[in-house]
Amino acid sequence: MPRELSTERLTLRPFMPDDVDWHLGLLGERDAPAPTRAENEAAVLHASSAWTDGGIAPYVVTVTRGAQAVGYCGLIVGRATSDAPGIAYELFRRDHGNGYATEAATAVVAAAGTGRARLWSTVRAWNVPSLNVLAKLQFSQDHSTFDDRGELIWLKREL
Ligand SMILES: CC(C)(COP(=O)(O)OP(=O)(O)OC[C@H]1O[C@@H](n2cnc3c(N)ncnc32)[C@H](O)[C@@H]1OP(=O)(O)O)[C@@H](O)C(=O)NCCC(=O)NCCS
Repeated sequence: MPRELSTERLTLRPFMPDDVDWHLGLLGERDAPAPTRAENEAAVLHASSAWTDGGIAPYVVTVTRGAQAVGYCGLIVGRATSDAPGIAYELFRRDHGNGYATEAATAVVAAAGTGRARLWSTVRAWNVPSLNVLAKLQFSQDHSTFDDRGELIWLKREL
């Protein structure tokens, strides 16, 4: 993947070690126990080192005009594989509803096409905004799995 992607309004750049503070704030908005600062530091360092090593890693999404991080978006291995990775995104609540996730993820899907046959995404069945983003990106539902948190929908996008 290129180190940086630009869209009309957004710049997507690699994670850096000093992205810990805003990332901690973002994950603190989840309706789930937030990871500790140490876990956050490890996650940010992992994403930042993956960029250095040429691995699979999400981008930090910033509004180009302000340069402030609005969240992250990019490829992850996650529940998928490095050959056919997953796409993930998460934005601060204050930045929802502006089309940023769709705009960022569209750029990621376009850049991911080189050398990959497909992308996956796994989404909880209740997560309508995320399912809407994936529908706009032409992901289609493949199958569901179930765990103690309920239904997890697997969607795929042929590239
Ligand atoms: C999922 C997420 C990244 C979407 O970000 P976003 O920038 O607001 O998304 P977009 O504006 O590009 O598109 C969201 C779409 O869902 C729609 N939507 C938003 N909330 C909705 C709701 N409660 N019910 C139905 N549709 C909804 C929007 O109208 C939009 O569709 P449209 O363009 O057809 O109007 C954001 O909600 C988020 O960070 N959620 C928490 C983390 C998360 O769930 N990540 C995904 C894990 S799989």
